[in-house]
Amino acid sequence: MPRFSSRLRSIVTAEASLLLSQVSDLQRAGRPVTALCVGEPDFETPDAVRAAAKRAIDAGRTKYAPLAGIHELREAACRKLKRDNELDYEVDQIVASTGGKQVIYNAFMATVDPGDEVIVPSPYWAAYPDLVRICGGVPIVAETRQDENYILQPETLAANITNNTRWLILNSPNNPTGAVYGRDHLESLASVLRSHPDIWILSDDIYEHIVFGDTAFVTLAQIAPDLSDRTLIVNGCSKGYAMTGWRLGFGAGHRDLITEMIQVQSQVTLAPSTVSQWAAITALEEGLSLKPEQLAVLNARRDLAAAIMNRTEGLHCDHPNGAFYIYVNCADALGKATPDGQTITSDRALCNYLLSHADVAVMPGSAYGLSPYFRLSYAVDTDELRAACFRIEDACTALR
Ligand SMILES: Cc1ncc(COP(=O)(O)O)c(C=O)c1O
Repeated sequence: MPRFSSRLRSIVTAEASLLLSQVSDLQRAGRPVTALCVGEPDFETPDAVRAAAKRAIDAGRTKYAPLAGIHELREAACRKLKRDNELDYEVDQIVASTGGKQVIYNAFMATVDPGDEVIVPSPYWAAYPDLVRICGGVPIVAETRQDENYILQPETLAANITNNTRWLILNSPNNPTGAVYGRDHLESLASVLRSHPDIWILSDDIYEHIVFGDTAFVTLAQIAPDLSDRTLIVNGCSKGYAMTGWRLGFGAGHRDLITEMIQVQSQVTLAPSTVSQWAAITALEEGLSLKPEQLAVLNARRDLAAAIMNRTEGLHCDHPNGAFYIYVNCADALGKATPDGQTITSDRALCNYLLSHADVAVMPGSAYGLSPYFRLSYAVDTDELRAACFRIEDACTALR
């Protein structure tokens, strides 16, 4: 067979897709597997957004869009950044792309040379290190700790900076921990970054609208305007507007960076789907992010799942303030044996056991760079979530 590229070996994070294909194999074989490993809200895209897409199709808005995105969408993104984040951007500082993921890819492609380092706080969204490697860079993992609420500490950031550091990635609310960075956390990181003017900062705000109670979302550019020229905001409609399948993200940053990212986009995908862009204009203009009732449902599910995990022998977790994940510590389950005599040696082994004995799919912490944990996504129907958590509890109680 003709050969494959060596670049392919950059993609080491096959974990999520492996698990998902195992789940669908089991489901096809008739097993009632509950997938608590999904990365999307189980709510429908708002009616007004769907109607806007239908209108766009009927009006024949089905041709290529301008490379950086439709002007009205870029304006809507500027107004959103002003309204929600008190930030001033102009249209030429915005690019629309095929999901937040492509914004990140374009940014690294435009700035990372072979050997350049990107600081990735762990646990991390599994795509970050792969995207860094695909673009020729080296991911530098900076660990956070559960007892510090998985917040990157300024000393840890400082210790990981070298002359080769090109980017720092920040992600709040966080996938996989649900942690939300407060003003103070961001201020302390900003003071470190001020001494390193050659580092770009990627602020992945995609879960911005999914915060609970009186938690306020704040983004770095808001509290450190002096850093905004080298901060790239990555945002989009996927999570906060229940629009994962529309594939619509946007980046906001220095116009020179945005221009280079558009250049990358020109040869990779061109602009994102025109119909999705018209839908996104309505979503952003009308502020159609998840409703308070939907956030209340997520909040209640978080409490439900966390309560069951915390009463389960061998497991414990926090009550994070955002996104729709809990990161469950399973250190005390390791070393125990399953009813059929297998020893649980790692978080991955525990996840395999939960899949085969409890019909529940959760993602091992090894996929996110911090073990031994598993990520549980509670963006599923409440009754199904409750039943799946009970099955996790029973399976863990059966360990000896
Ligand atoms: C932290 C984080 N950033 C960005 C994305 C990308 O989202 P999309 O490409 O769907 O806009 C995701 C999706 O899982 C995510 O979890």
